[in-house]
Amino acid sequence: MARHWIATAPGAFAFEDYDVPPPRAGEVTIEVRAAGMNPADHKHAARAAAADFPLPIGYEVAGVITAIGPGTEIASGGGGVGDEVLAYRVRGGWATALTVPAADVFAKPASLAWEEAATLLLAGATAAEMLHVTRVAAGDTILVHGASGAVGVSLLQQAALLGARVVGTASAGSFARVQRYGGVPVAHGDGLEQRVRGAAPGGIAAALDCIGTDEAIDVSLALVADRDRIATIAAPQRARSDGFLALGGTLPASKTYRDAVRGHLIELAEQGLLEVPVARTFPLADAIEAVELLRGGHPGGKLALLP
Ligand SMILES: NC(=O)c1ccc[n+]([C@@H]2O[C@H](COP(=O)([O-])OP(=O)(O)OC[C@H]3O[C@@H](n4cnc5c(N)ncnc54)[C@H](OP(=O)(O)O)[C@@H]3O)[C@@H](O)[C@H]2O)c1
Repeated sequence: MARHWIATAPGAFAFEDYDVPPPRAGEVTIEVRAAGMNPADHKHAARAAAADFPLPIGYEVAGVITAIGPGTEIASGGGGVGDEVLAYRVRGGWATALTVPAADVFAKPASLAWEEAATLLLAGATAAEMLHVTRVAAGDTILVHGASGAVGVSLLQQAALLGARVVGTASAGSFARVQRYGGVPVAHGDGLEQRVRGAAPGGIAAALDCIGTDEAIDVSLALVADRDRIATIAAPQRARSDGFLALGGTLPASKTYRDAVRGHLIELAEQGLLEVPVARTFPLADAIEAVELLRGGHPGGKLALLP
C-alpha cells in the first residue's frame, strides 16, 4: 500500500493510504525517492475551490520506475523498470509512489542527488520562461526581485549562461547565496530604487519579479520603460493594472514553454551548469513541518520530502 498527502480543505492536509493505479499505455509508476516542495503546493491548496478537494499535492518527484505501460517510452527516450528518473509536472508527488504520464518523465542524471533532481524543474522552467519572455540577452543588466529564492537562484545561473549581469534583491543574510551564483545583491526595503541605480549605472534592461510586493513592482516600473521587459510570477493583479507580463504555470503559453525546456534544463544540471541548492530535507511524514518553513518565505534553498 502506498501513502500520499492530500489537501482535504483549504490549508488542511492529510497523509493517507492509497492504491496506486497500474500504468496504462503512456504511463509509468514511480517509487518516489524525493518529492520536491514549492510555494505553489500550499498556495494552490489554500485557494482551491470546494469541488477540487481532496486535492493531490506536489508537482515534481525523483524516483525509480517500478512499472511501465504497454508500448510506453519516457520523454527522454526508452525507459524501463529500475530506471532512475525525475518527473515534472505531476499531480500528487508528495507520495511514496504514483502513476504519471510518461511524457513528463526524464532519465535522472547520475550526478544529481535525489533531492536535487526532485527540485530542479519547477523553479528552473519558471526562470527559463521569465528570461525568454523578457528577451534577456548577452550584455543586458537585469533586476531580479527575490534573487536568493529558488526561482531567483535559477535565474541567476541561467542569466549568467546567457551573458547577462544580474542585480538581485535579497535579505542581508542571503547576500552570499546571490554572490555565489554571480549576482550583485541589494537589500530590499526603503531606498531600493537608488541602490539598484547605484549597482547598475548603465541602466536596467529588464526586471523579473519573484516577490510580488508593491515595492518590487514600483521599482521595476521606475527603472524599465518597456513594459514587455517586466515580468512577474507573483503579482498578477499589478501586471493587469500596469500593463506588464504575468506568468503562471497553468497558462497555456507558460505550460508549453516550460514543458519544452525541461530536457535542456536537465542537460545543464548534468553538465554542472545549473545547481539546485537544497536547504533541507524532511521525512515525507513530516510534510506539515516543512510547509511551515516554506510558508515563512525564507527557506534558504529548496526543500524536499523523502519517503
Ligand atoms: N507564477 C508562477 O509560475 C510561479 C512559479 C514558481 C514560483 N512562483 C512564486 O514565486 C515566488 C518565489 O518562489 P520561490 O520558489 O523562489 O520561493 P522561495 O524559494 O521560498 O524564496 C522566497 C524568496 O522571497 C524572498 N522574500 C521573502 N519575503 C520577502 C519580502 N518581504 N520582500 C522581499 N523578498 C522577500 C526571500 O528572500 P530572502 O530570504 O533573502 O529575504 C526569497 O528569495 C513564490 O511566491 C511562488 O509562489 C510562481
